[in-house]
Amino acid sequence: MKMKELLLFLSCVLCVSADPLHSDIGIVGCSASDGEDMYGLDGEELAYADFNKQKEIYPQPPFIDPMNCPGCYDTAVADQQTCRENMKRCGKGMKDYPPEQDAPSAVMIYTRDEVEFGVQNTLICHVAGFYPAPVNVSWTKNGQKVTGSSINTPYLNKDGSFRQTSRLDFTPQLGDVYSCAVQHLALAEPLAKIYEVDSSAHSDPGIGPSVFCGVGLTLGLVGVAVGTFFLIKGNECS
Ligand SMILES: *[C@@H]1O[C@H](CO)[C@@H](O)[C@H](O)[C@H]1NC(C)=O
Repeated sequence: MKMKELLLFLSCVLCVSADPLHSDIGIVGCSASDGEDMYGLDGEELAYADFNKQKEIYPQPPFIDPMNCPGCYDTAVADQQTCRENMKRCGKGMKDYPPEQDAPSAVMIYTRDEVEFGVQNTLICHVAGFYPAPVNVSWTKNGQKVTGSSINTPYLNKDGSFRQTSRLDFTPQLGDVYSCAVQHLALAEPLAKIYEVDSSAHSDPGIGPSVFCGVGLTLGLVGVAVGTFFLIKGNECS
């Protein structure tokens, strides 16, 4: 009983000490050729203005309660104008002051799901710690350029740098080599990362695990039976 109370108390302490705060973020940014207007929560993109498609996009998966923001796109367009005006003014004020430029601190390439040959998956190219935004990400498959990738809007890190993620749907085939190449203002050459579909990926777990499990279980049961037999025998003898 004592033990149970202690456990209950411990779990209470744990849940109280868990950080109850969420952190949301709104980014309005512009450059001479580009702009961003994004709303995020806890590191996830909730909504952004797509200035090419001229509408607000909600990039969350369908199982999330959908966010809707009527009027957001028009506000975003207006904010871009303000941003450009401010930028002009700052440009004058900070004449000849070179803008800060930080190349990406890391580029990582990985798959969304565990790789199974012939089963559709997504390659993810995560670019971290750069300034200013954005980066361009291009993909190749076996040395040939591929299209159809997507990229999210730049997300602001706590230290003022940005991160961005590009995705490419693909079907893993043994021997295929993919790369994502990142372009950024502070990089003289694109920074490329390679992903190779090698045989360490497995096609199908097959019957191996079930056989192991079956044999293990059988041995265990035999052990219990033999143990019980000797226990009873021992009791009879004494
Ligand atoms: C990204 O691509 C666009 C269009 O090709 C180009 O204008 C821009 O300079 C590129 N940005 C970087 C950082 O290389």
